[in-house]
Amino acid sequence: MDRHKIAALINSAQPMDKVLVKGWVRTRRDAKSFSFIEINDGSCLSNIQVIADADLLDYDQVRKLTTGSAVGVTGELVASQGGGQRWEIRAHALTVFSLAPESYPLQKKRHSDEYLRSIAHLRPRTNKYGAAFRIRSELSFAVHQFFRERGFHYIHTPIITGSDCEGAGELFRITTLDLMNVPRRNQTVDYEKDFFATEANLTVSGQLSAEMFALSLGDVYTFGPTFRAENSNTRRHVAEFWMIEPEMAFCDLQGNMDLGEALIKDCVRFIMENCQTDLNLFARFVDKTLMATLENIVGSDFERLPYREAVAILERTKKKFDYPVSFGSDLQTEHERYLTEKHFKKPVIVYDYPKTIKPFYMRMNDDNETVAAMDVLVPSIGELVGGSQREERLEVLENRMDAMGLPKEPYWWYLESRRYGTVEHSGFGLGFERLLMLITGIRNIRDVIPFPRTPGSIDF
Ligand code: 4AD
Ligand code: MG
Repeated sequence: MDRHKIAALINSAQPMDKVLVKGWVRTRRDAKSFSFIEINDGSCLSNIQVIADADLLDYDQVRKLTTGSAVGVTGELVASQGGGQRWEIRAHALTVFSLAPESYPLQKKRHSDEYLRSIAHLRPRTNKYGAAFRIRSELSFAVHQFFRERGFHYIHTPIITGSDCEGAGELFRITTLDLMNVPRRNQTVDYEKDFFATEANLTVSGQLSAEMFALSLGDVYTFGPTFRAENSNTRRHVAEFWMIEPEMAFCDLQGNMDLGEALIKDCVRFIMENCQTDLNLFARFVDKTLMATLENIVGSDFERLPYREAVAILERTKKKFDYPVSFGSDLQTEHERYLTEKHFKKPVIVYDYPKTIKPFYMRMNDDNETVAAMDVLVPSIGELVGGSQREERLEVLENRMDAMGLPKEPYWWYLESRRYGTVEHSGFGLGFERLLMLITGIRNIRDVIPFPRTPGSIDF
């Protein structure tokens, strides 16, 4: 017999003569002539309650069942007598696949997020993390659906690259050189002896490759892992994260902002509609204001204002910041959060940043001082999206690279796209984990990614 998923059984329209479930025991309670066993199989938040009568063939096994044990149960699906659930299973037979010892770390009590991080291999078996990772799965689907409905093509950009898109130098090096015996030439490392005959690293962004495809297929997006070796131990940075990067030909900064706002709203709406049970857990136990926050995101027009005005607001406020702001300073999380949480009380898109704090590829504005950049800021997180209109004018781009001291040779192919049929185009990067934090109210990015990679930590 095929196994039934608990998610399907709890929504059954009628009783069923014969069902088979397989899963893990959450709890067992014994009465005089029978036992209740709560089983969870990960298909949904709910457990299914199994009634095992004492005259069951394997009843002595039932009495030994511990939390965390793996079992299979056949029986009939009947209306539940007790409150709390619609259906329960009257067991006919039970198979114990494995008994978990009493040392099973997830006993029935609340564990702290810190503790659960230390057992990241087991935490998806808890209600909270099970829900978080089911939402993560659904959210991925929502992203693909959003783009597919709009005629975007999904591009798999390389993970190993030779370029540093953001120019921030936060790269993980890829090498097959023997680190105990590095080949040298003229006092430096001889990368010609390395696997790619040149320096290589893990990508920080698929953007440069995506641009080539936008200038061929029109509207494209990437959605994959990206890597940053920045040594920042904050609750919104990890060394390996997933980024969604759309890139659109014949699109200016305005169109870019429109797409970013639509994507965020669509994703939030999708999870509110399709993951109600899992989402409710977060609204009840993690962030009491979650639903109001999500309604606000879906229901409001994002505030759009130039960086210059954002800085003026920050300079005017009486609030004391750890970092002072003035035109030319990078906005810190505290500034971003002030703008979105306190001042506008909704998501904010800040655009036209000073060129001095943004990468080489952003389009120069006519003032020659700012670039056509945009960041989307959201409550409790700050920056969720970073993007721009791209510099499509070859000469302007080359001048900018020169001014920034960037070598042009490694970017020869990127520059060629500005020589052959160059057009106005735009795109952005949205941090998938940060979107998950926004939607679940989870405050630490380490808790929305299955196995987080952070400085000094790569267990699991
Ligand atoms: O603002 P960033 O650095 O933009 C880019 O990489 C562009 N090349 C994207 C593009 O235009 N195609 O990163 C984009 C987003 C950030 O807004 C943030 O949400 C997320 O990626 N992000 C991180 N998320 C988790 N951990 C980190 N260390 C992150 N760094 C960036
Ligand atoms: Mg950014």
